[in-house]
Amino acid sequence: MTPLDRALEAAARARVTLILGTSDTGKTSLTARLAGALAARGERVAVVDADVGQSEIGPPTTVGLGHVAGAVARLGDAEVIALEFVGDTSPVRYIRETADATGRLVRRALDAGFERVLVDTGGLVEGPLGLALKRAKVRAADPDLVLVLQRSDESEPIARALERDVRPRVVRLAPSPAVVRRSAARRREHRERALRDYLAHAATLTLPTARAPVRDRRGEALTDVAEGLLLGVLGAGGETLGIARVRAWDAARGCIVVDTPVPAEQIAALVAGRATWRA
Ligand SMILES: Nc1ncnc2c1ncn2[C@@H]1O[C@H](COP(=O)(O)OP(=O)(O)OP(=O)(O)O)[C@@H](O)[C@H]1O
Ligand SMILES: [Mg+2]
Repeated sequence: MTPLDRALEAAARARVTLILGTSDTGKTSLTARLAGALAARGERVAVVDADVGQSEIGPPTTVGLGHVAGAVARLGDAEVIALEFVGDTSPVRYIRETADATGRLVRRALDAGFERVLVDTGGLVEGPLGLALKRAKVRAADPDLVLVLQRSDESEPIARALERDVRPRVVRLAPSPAVVRRSAARRREHRERALRDYLAHAATLTLPTARAPVRDRRGEALTDVAEGLLLGVLGAGGETLGIARVRAWDAARGCIVVDTPVPAEQIAALVAGRATWRA
């Protein structure tokens, strides 16, 4: 039995499967293959992309929920259902926020009647931060199954910690030898391309801050933000509609100028994170 067959057999019996492993172990490719294979069996399949850096569903800085209806070449081909703005392209300062967003999107998928929910995660597994992040994500997503992709024993601390509990089931898999390792520079390029592609459909909007207030993550009103800062774009119900990039803050006119693909009439508020992007 190949690792892919083993993964598929296990995932076919789990409602929620979380895929875990260090960078470049083939997590995202495996998630896309599993999603496609399960969908081909006639199951309703959702994927939560909990990687805020190497994002496939939704832009970097967000956790995304997508629907996979058949075989997909890339996870990014999933149809986007919902996003949650986290605020950075690294989860390190937003461990709780990233985990909570992941948990909310898993529950949303289950509530919407999806039969299989796959959760793809980022590559930070090592050290105290990796352990804390992955445990928080597992606690929030509450998976039935965790697939651990590892070359040697780099994910053992987290795998063993999970095995101490009755749930989830833990299945270890060897990464495909075909996985291509990427340098830090290639990762940055991938992230920047994802942001550029997302903002390629953007319009430049001048929004009165009286109508679309700009807040920080704690809800405090901001009176200035730097050019290039990435903002979460929220709708009337507080839901994330997308992201925006700051062009200017026009204090004299009480307006913020942003680039975003979200239609102006849908925007109820903007929330500042930490990530900036200089186009
Ligand atoms: N089974 C496979 N056959 C061929 N190429 C693969 C396979 N699995 C992964 N790759 C390639 O290896 C690279 C890394 O794989 P992938 O993005 O799935 O890893 P990852 O663990 O999700 O990485 P990250 O930690 O950056 O999220 C990609 O370019 C992908 O296309
Ligand atoms: Mg990945």
